[in-house]
Amino acid sequence: MEDEYTRERALEMLGVTGGALEELYRHADVVRKNHMGDDVYIRGIIEFSNICVNDCLYCGIRASNRKVGRYVMSPDEILAIAGTMGRFRQTTVVLQSGETPGMADEKLGVLIRRIKEATGLAVTVSVGNRPLETYRYWRECGMDRYLLRFETSDAALFARLHPGSSLDDRLRCLEHLRSLGVQTGSGFMIGLPGETVGVLADNILLCRRLDLDMIGIGPFIPHPDTPLCGTKNAYHNDPDMFFRALATLRIFNPDAHIPATTAFDAVFPGEGRNLALKRGANVFMPNITPVRYKKEYFLYPGKPSVDEEPEECTTAAIVRIESLGRRVGRGPGHSFKKREQPGQK
Ligand code: 5AD
Repeated sequence: MEDEYTRERALEMLGVTGGALEELYRHADVVRKNHMGDDVYIRGIIEFSNICVNDCLYCGIRASNRKVGRYVMSPDEILAIAGTMGRFRQTTVVLQSGETPGMADEKLGVLIRRIKEATGLAVTVSVGNRPLETYRYWRECGMDRYLLRFETSDAALFARLHPGSSLDDRLRCLEHLRSLGVQTGSGFMIGLPGETVGVLADNILLCRRLDLDMIGIGPFIPHPDTPLCGTKNAYHNDPDMFFRALATLRIFNPDAHIPATTAFDAVFPGEGRNLALKRGANVFMPNITPVRYKKEYFLYPGKPSVDEEPEECTTAAIVRIESLGRRVGRGPGHSFKKREQPGQK
């Protein structure tokens, strides 16, 4: 019944309090269990470079932030970490970096190929906007999935926050990825300055309309060395909104993979991601970047476990998942959505 997924209903869910809020969380948890099961997939993320040509107003590694010590990890170093992941029950590696179109794109293709040859891991890439040809090249190298948040569905707000880029460009990239048969993930920040609850509802509806395989959302957190340093999250007086958004997202997108993102732990230290797993999420993404680099990949303050090395982060993730009575997901943890492969009819 398509009418279940109206803007009115989303707004209603985003407005509940008290007992009705608890009921919303229970509902989201039931939808998650019925469609995704109790398995929680662990996908280790390697932040392999913090060099970025963009100047997004919210982001700690924006090009203009001179306080950041820039780094690029070597392919051998990345491959060595990927090689250990299987031992820690991880079946996907996520390669994330700032946006540096150009020469590095070819190197990334070679790295994807090497990882696919040396490990049985699924490879997710998250390095920003690129032309279709580049995505196609990475796909040919073996890239399985791609993460590219649209950040906000409000085109004017998007343009204000992303100098030189538009929401349309971003949505075109997502379409290109989908056309290549890449499992496609997107999502948004919750509570960007200027966001209204109407925009938040539209963000959730856009995720549904894009029919995404994965959806990552998390609270906006002002970073001291960015132009948004003096701002507050639009819901700073009502942090329940972060979870209302997550629960509503799950109810509107029953069979998408939804991670319990790190930003939830930054806002609710020690428990944010656990609560997210109980309110709709089914994926956990431990940070497996070596500490010496991780310190320089501060998209926002309050990022947890900056002084924990990869193995500790993954072990902690397994403990968290099992303490909730859930199981670590086995197998590659591909999209649950059934799709025709491109070219097939
Ligand atoms: N607060 C919260 N999330 C942020 N991101 C970047 N900067 C911030 C911030 N200040 C998120 C964006 C991006 C993802 C990698 O990190 O949504 O897509």
